[in-house]
Amino acid sequence: MSKRRLFVTTALPYANGKFHIGHIMEYIQADIWVRFQRMQGNLVHFVCADDAHGAPIMIAAEKAGITPQEFVAGISSGRKPYLEGFHIAFDNWHSTDGEENHQLAKEIYLQLKNKGLIEVREIEQFFDPEKGMFLPDRFIKGECPKCGAKDQYGDSCESCGAVYSPTEVKNPYSTLSGSSPILKKSDHYFFKLSDPSCVQFLQNWIHTPNPQGRARLQPEVLNKIKEWFVADESGKTGLGDWDISRDAPYFGIEIPEAPGKYFYVWLDAPIGYLASLKNYLDQNNTQKTIAEALPFDQFLSDPSVEQYHFIGKDITYFHTLFWPAMLHFSGRKTPSSIFVHGFITVSGEKMSKSRGTGIDPLKYLSLGMNPEWLRYYLAAKLSSKVEDVDFNPDDFMLRVNSDLVGKYINIAARSAGFIHKQFNSKLGEILPNGESLLVSLQSSADSISNLYEEREFAKVLREIMALADKVNEYVDQNKPWELAKKENSQLELHAVCTTCLEAFRYLSIYLKPVLPALSEQVESFLKCQTLTFSDAKTRLGAGHTVNPYKHLIQRVDEKMLDSLFDLPTETESTASGVTPAISEAIISKNEDHASLVKPGGEEIAQIINIDEFAKVDLRVAQIVSCESVEGSTKLLRLMLDVGEGRHRQVFSGIASAYKPDDLVGKLTVMVANLAPRKMKFGISEGMVLAASHVDEKISPGIYILHPWPGAVPGMRIH
Ligand code: MSP
Ligand code: ZN
Repeated sequence: MSKRRLFVTTALPYANGKFHIGHIMEYIQADIWVRFQRMQGNLVHFVCADDAHGAPIMIAAEKAGITPQEFVAGISSGRKPYLEGFHIAFDNWHSTDGEENHQLAKEIYLQLKNKGLIEVREIEQFFDPEKGMFLPDRFIKGECPKCGAKDQYGDSCESCGAVYSPTEVKNPYSTLSGSSPILKKSDHYFFKLSDPSCVQFLQNWIHTPNPQGRARLQPEVLNKIKEWFVADESGKTGLGDWDISRDAPYFGIEIPEAPGKYFYVWLDAPIGYLASLKNYLDQNNTQKTIAEALPFDQFLSDPSVEQYHFIGKDITYFHTLFWPAMLHFSGRKTPSSIFVHGFITVSGEKMSKSRGTGIDPLKYLSLGMNPEWLRYYLAAKLSSKVEDVDFNPDDFMLRVNSDLVGKYINIAARSAGFIHKQFNSKLGEILPNGESLLVSLQSSADSISNLYEEREFAKVLREIMALADKVNEYVDQNKPWELAKKENSQLELHAVCTTCLEAFRYLSIYLKPVLPALSEQVESFLKCQTLTFSDAKTRLGAGHTVNPYKHLIQRVDEKMLDSLFDLPTETESTASGVTPAISEAIISKNEDHASLVKPGGEEIAQIINIDEFAKVDLRVAQIVSCESVEGSTKLLRLMLDVGEGRHRQVFSGIASAYKPDDLVGKLTVMVANLAPRKMKFGISEGMVLAASHVDEKISPGIYILHPWPGAVPGMRIH
């Protein structure tokens, strides 16, 4: 079989916030598939990027008092811990505001224009009279024109999935000011999707298999799309022309020959897939790190290169209609398939940041929870269908502990000790019953590969666990712990334990796309080379030496799960268990004491109640950069990250105690809701907490606060 070449992406996340568990699920799904493809010997370019443009980001940057570019850079700099933390192996991470994307978006637009598919029309659009700007779709809410659902966004309905233009929304209001928007005229650019050539192309595209003979779309996706083609009562075809321009002010790419007009973010966003690939392959052109990689244009236009996009169900319309049409009519190859997944819910609930549900991926990691537990658990729930996936804490613990650890890891744990202690770490011969077990494990390679290829990960894991069950039954029948005590059973004991480790290796091959870091440990334990699927054809063999077994993976500890779902704000008062009577006692004791000594040189301040304390918002902050301030011997200028997607400048009088380099990268605590203060050297947006004696002659030190390991920027101090 010849080597396939694949170009794989996940959706480009908006650069207006941190990753949530939904993003991580999408990346894990795609990453498992990509790792599987690589283990098959295929060449994969797996890329992503920040989706940088659009009005929401512009508005968020404005609120933060920085440029959109700075805002996006701040978000982008926070991506790495998530991706590395969950072993997501993108080859490249770029931005839709990169130079490549500006260039490609303009090029594609001009090609569509040459095809006669762009039209300028004057339209009436909602304008917020209070804010003095045209309202982006997302900032208009109202009732869905199709199903009547209330409080739907101006561009699409979460209830029925309809996509429409904001002026179709009933009873609209501006979410920026709450006012009723007024209609105002302006020229807009349209992509003529309703053009018969487009409609015909798409009708054909959605129904024909890709060049590999596989469906481009999942059956349920195809059914949904067919609905969108159907004409409504007025006889209008479901496919309306697509408004691709926005008026300044807008953060985006300027439309060629159209001053003051910008591409709507959804026009340049998918082009960002190509831009990230180009950025990656262009680097490779100069560095030659991947020998087999072709230059961008050549790679992308090669008919045998396969192109896949992993996306969530909410953005199906853009990827199955607009995107193939843009590619096709600009003379490019269309995607081989679009892989749509459902949403992740937590204990059956939709995630909501405001209600504090959901799982914070960084908190998960900082609690010391193993990223491969999550990879395993999500894989055990994912299929090729557009189904929602529920994260249920009890189920999570059960699956990881009983299947991953209890079934799979247990096989090595039960046998490795004997090999090490009794057989000098060497494998032995295999007896017929072991042989037949191993052959049956090996013969599953094809069916497991097919399931991976089809993204049927839940079925993959079910099949692997069924194999693990067989191996454990074999162990139970052959009882190595008894053989070890019996005389003249050394040969048999050696054979049974050897069979176990050979079996463990096959299971490890099959699990490797899901558990990449664990597999590396297994490879070093078994002293075997990097495992690929073709290794399921071979054996380690008698005489092969293995390394001493070290425990490979912990069980999930219930306490970790409890902390993961802890809501700090609500638990604080009850968790401390302080009743009013007890707290009064504590206070009076303090008062007595205060009159005798002055701790730190000053009396304890006047008593406040918990509500007054709660007004002070203290946050864990990371010092991203630090420099001395010209003209001041006392001050340092700190740039702090409190997880808001931007950095804050704070001046702090600690220059006598710290050199800038001592502080960079460290965590500290800041007052995050202190009114910004204009100082001689600039605006200070908060205060860093430091301890000192009131009288520096008695004790000159200044000590900046530093949280215990595990705290991450943005956590509140309660
Ligand atoms: N910027 C667009 C995509 C542009 S692609 C050219 C966007 N960004 S997003 O940040 O809102 O979403 C990124 C991906 O995360 C999408 O595929 C989306 O479906 C997915 N998810 C968002 N919430 C999700 C869950 N709760 N569960 C699983 N995936 C979810 O859309
Ligand atoms: Zn609706």
